[in-house]
Amino acid sequence: MSIPAIPLNTGAAIPQVGLGTWPLDDAEAANAVAAGIGLGYRHLDTATRYGNETGVGEGIRRSGVPRGELFVTTKLDGEFQGDDRAIGGLRAALDRLGTDYVDLLLIHWPLPARDQYVSTWRTFEKLHADGLARAIGVSNFTPAHLDRLAAETSVVPAVNQIQISPAIVRLAQRAYDEAHGIVTQSWSPLGGGSGARALLADPVLTGIADRLDRTPAQVVLRWHVQQGLVVLPKSSDPARMAQNLDLFSFELAPDDLAAIATLAEGPDAGVDSDRQGH
Ligand code: A2P
Repeated sequence: MSIPAIPLNTGAAIPQVGLGTWPLDDAEAANAVAAGIGLGYRHLDTATRYGNETGVGEGIRRSGVPRGELFVTTKLDGEFQGDDRAIGGLRAALDRLGTDYVDLLLIHWPLPARDQYVSTWRTFEKLHADGLARAIGVSNFTPAHLDRLAAETSVVPAVNQIQISPAIVRLAQRAYDEAHGIVTQSWSPLGGGSGARALLADPVLTGIADRLDRTPAQVVLRWHVQQGLVVLPKSSDPARMAQNLDLFSFELAPDDLAAIATLAEGPDAGVDSDRQGH
């Protein structure tokens, strides 16, 4: 199965579907990553805060697929914000992952009350220049945070990874990212945990899924990719993982997209920049 790739502002390309790994522990992540790569995933998303980078690395090695064919993202949380703190943070993450670079390194949360995300970004610029992070980006950033990076630093983030689902659509943030050449990634694209169970039972989605002979999860993930978003669905079930990758042989019609738009709860619901979630 061939997964489209979206160009990044570095010149590299990111596979449009990646395997999310929160809240898997090391053993679960190793199994999920090895199975996922076997099914065709080439993009893996983890974070130091998830506590499973060792497992993700083990899954990669177990898969037998060469490192160069994979796109690996990790994120550094508040502990690694401030001057040069990300250097030790990334080196330790690389040790756990068993690799000498990541394809993408993200600031996990802006934490504006600490006022350290600008100095953290300058450290990220060094890690990028050194080749330890082939691309650098952010997560859970708003336009105000990104404006400040633009004013005070020189590298434009390649990616902003934010919570998006048909309930939480984040239109203003997506428009900002697009206008600045920043690729938007969707975390918890299915609504996350119990949210996913509720969302996927919605009659609007089950109706479209029945008509297209797909699952509600595939309809939701297709909604993301059809709008140019990079999706990171998490599942540890191989049958669901396979479904979540099989998004490129059907299409949602304009009427379907309009029906799904009725599920939006508000344009920018769902984010608190000062709290570190997962
Ligand atoms: P599981 O890991 O048991 O498959 P999100 O990616 O939005 O955070 O959502 C993750 C949740 O959605 C998990 O609870 C996961 O459960 C569930 N999930 C993932 N893929 C599917 C699918 N294809 N169908 C139904 N539920 C899914």
